[in-house]
Amino acid sequence: MKQKVTVVGAGNVGATAAQRLAEKELCDVVLVDIIEGVPQGKSLDLTQAAPIEKHDAHLTGVNSYEASANSDIVIITAGIPRKPGMSRDDLLATNKGIIKSVTKEVIKYSPDAILIIVSNPLDAMCHVAMEESGFPKQRIIGMAGILDSARFRAFISMELSVSVESIHALVLGGHGDTMVPLPRFSTVAGVPITELIEANRIEEMVTRTRNGGAEIVSLLKTGSAYYAPASAAVEMAESILKDKKKILPCAAYLTGEYGISNLFVGVPVKLGSKGIEQIIELKLSAEEQQALNKSAAAVQELVDAMKKMG
Ligand code: APR
Repeated sequence: MKQKVTVVGAGNVGATAAQRLAEKELCDVVLVDIIEGVPQGKSLDLTQAAPIEKHDAHLTGVNSYEASANSDIVIITAGIPRKPGMSRDDLLATNKGIIKSVTKEVIKYSPDAILIIVSNPLDAMCHVAMEESGFPKQRIIGMAGILDSARFRAFISMELSVSVESIHALVLGGHGDTMVPLPRFSTVAGVPITELIEANRIEEMVTRTRNGGAEIVSLLKTGSAYYAPASAAVEMAESILKDKKKILPCAAYLTGEYGISNLFVGVPVKLGSKGIEQIIELKLSAEEQQALNKSAAAVQELVDAMKKMG
């Protein structure tokens, strides 16, 4: 393949992302993990699936970063996932250390890469990657909004028995309990769901979306969601690799947009070959803006907590 994506963390999310990237024949894939044998084993297994899946993407599994050199994109999924009873914020200290060390290695070999951050707590981990890499804000993007919106879309589809393909949804804010699903901007064939579903039922679906990750953690018991998170990260990579310029909700570093400064928060962005090519500013109602401010404040709290950790 002409293009190359490195996925750091060969666990549930990372390996699934590698599989999707290869099967969509988007790029060659380098899978990196600290556990010896795991990235090698998984990439060999995926390589052996290639003749059946009919793709010619090359997969390489490694424990160091030389093979990742000159990646177009690096997807960072390294870190610990949640267990039942844990919030994403409980992962802060552990994953901060991991993202810091991973970013340091990644940028040594791929100084021009675009970083897609997946590890949680997502928005805070974007700050760690930005600080460690010194990369411009266009090249550090957090995966959250596509996943949260996909969860909302799935629930709308279940509610109305309509194809997921006819449903758009928008979830802004931080990737946590304060995220902001926006029913007014969530549509079925262009019609806002506020015209199709009773308000109290929408509220229930909004709550289920906010708790979407926790619902899966409580079912799996040993880890957190990975199929949908991997799909979301790969949609971002595809838009960048193919310079599609899709408008997707992602965590982006805001410098005044939505009245928020110096903070990663989920907003709609245009993703192309340069990374974040535009931040789309929607006209929010006072209530929606208030909810976004509350969510941004929750992200700020985590960023402040990390500063205290040193
Ligand atoms: N360098 C490389 N890989 C690492 C490092 C490191 N410093 N530290 C941990 N890892 C690897 C682990 O060895 C493991 O294989 O990261 C992988 C994480 O995989 P899982 O435990 O299966 O977790 P996963 O479900 O993939 O979630 C990863 O994404 O969605 C978020 O909250 C989730 O933060 C979590 C991350």
